[in-house]
Amino acid sequence: MPLVLGIETSCDETGVGLVRDGVLLGDALASSMDEHARFGGVVPEIAARAHLEALQPMVRHALDNAGVALAEVEAVAVTAGPGLASAVQVGLAAGKAYALSLGVPLYGVHHLAGHAAVDTLEHGPLPDRCIALIVSGGHTSLLLLGDLARDPIVHLGDTVDDAAGEAFDKVARLLGLPYPGGPAIDRAARDGNPDAIAFPRPLPGTYTFSFSGLKTAVARWVERHHGPVPVADVAASFQEAVADTLSRKAVGACREHHAGTLLMVGGVAANSRVRALTARRCAQAGIELRVPTPRLCTDNGAMIAAVGDLIARAGLPPSPLDLAMQPTLTLTQALVRPSRSTP
Ligand code: KG4
Ligand code: ZN
Repeated sequence: MPLVLGIETSCDETGVGLVRDGVLLGDALASSMDEHARFGGVVPEIAARAHLEALQPMVRHALDNAGVALAEVEAVAVTAGPGLASAVQVGLAAGKAYALSLGVPLYGVHHLAGHAAVDTLEHGPLPDRCIALIVSGGHTSLLLLGDLARDPIVHLGDTVDDAAGEAFDKVARLLGLPYPGGPAIDRAARDGNPDAIAFPRPLPGTYTFSFSGLKTAVARWVERHHGPVPVADVAASFQEAVADTLSRKAVGACREHHAGTLLMVGGVAANSRVRALTARRCAQAGIELRVPTPRLCTDNGAMIAAVGDLIARAGLPPSPLDLAMQPTLTLTQALVRPSRSTP
């Protein structure tokens, strides 16, 4: 089984991981999050520059962590999209350079497939069929998964506007909470009443998501409120609306598609209420819930190494070294197909 080096640079985390045969041997993570905080969101050029500075040290850290030498790496997996173009570009260029200099195969992989694959490092191989709910800062998708490396990925529903994490970030901002908003709302909500305010549950009875109306409902409520805003109650009520919506749709999809397993991944899967409510509803419906530990839910390099490991073991052909990055790429396959070649 090849030793796979995984590289992730699609947003503000520079992640490197080393995986062999479903086992995480070591990883390292640097984040430029603090540099973006005063802008209230990720600034692509700042992220790209930070990746450039952090990448080689993170590769070194991950190798030290795993107790292996760079020369032992037998395949390189790297996020080829989707993500911030300038940020993806840094990791992809580095991945190509490592693959070329080591003389090993390169796998350009889909960032979201990495979010799903990371769970195998903790909970073992995925079942033949499962439903995956991917909830991150940029994406909200309900998927039907077969063999993650080989089978096409079926989208049951996606968001028509904001992603779930984006809604957390925007609502946090209007409540005066720091960026990233998800963890801040999670913390603030601990002291709040989730039933204090009845925020809307958008698009019930479908697998399509929409969070911009919910965000607007929070904004209107805050505008109309007289006196100091009860931040904890607003945070808890908003978080409840998101948790209710996500878990209801995901469990509904498992029932309809006779899937015994729900995989919940992405940054928002780190949310304590989303995890607890989904766990309760899955238990009631007899569905096994798999959620990676919070550290692996947010962007990291282990997830890219994990998907590279699945692809390598499936014996798929490597990516060409002129693979172009694809900033807006729908998830249909874990291995990114070249869309066009750069000369
Ligand atoms: O998966 P991720 O690290 O990056 C993307 O690929 O987007 O997700 C980041 C998102 C951010 O919007 C962040 O606010 C959200 O995940 N997030 C959370 C929590 N931790 C991170 N949202 C809600 N509750 C959390 N505890
Ligand atoms: Zn992500």
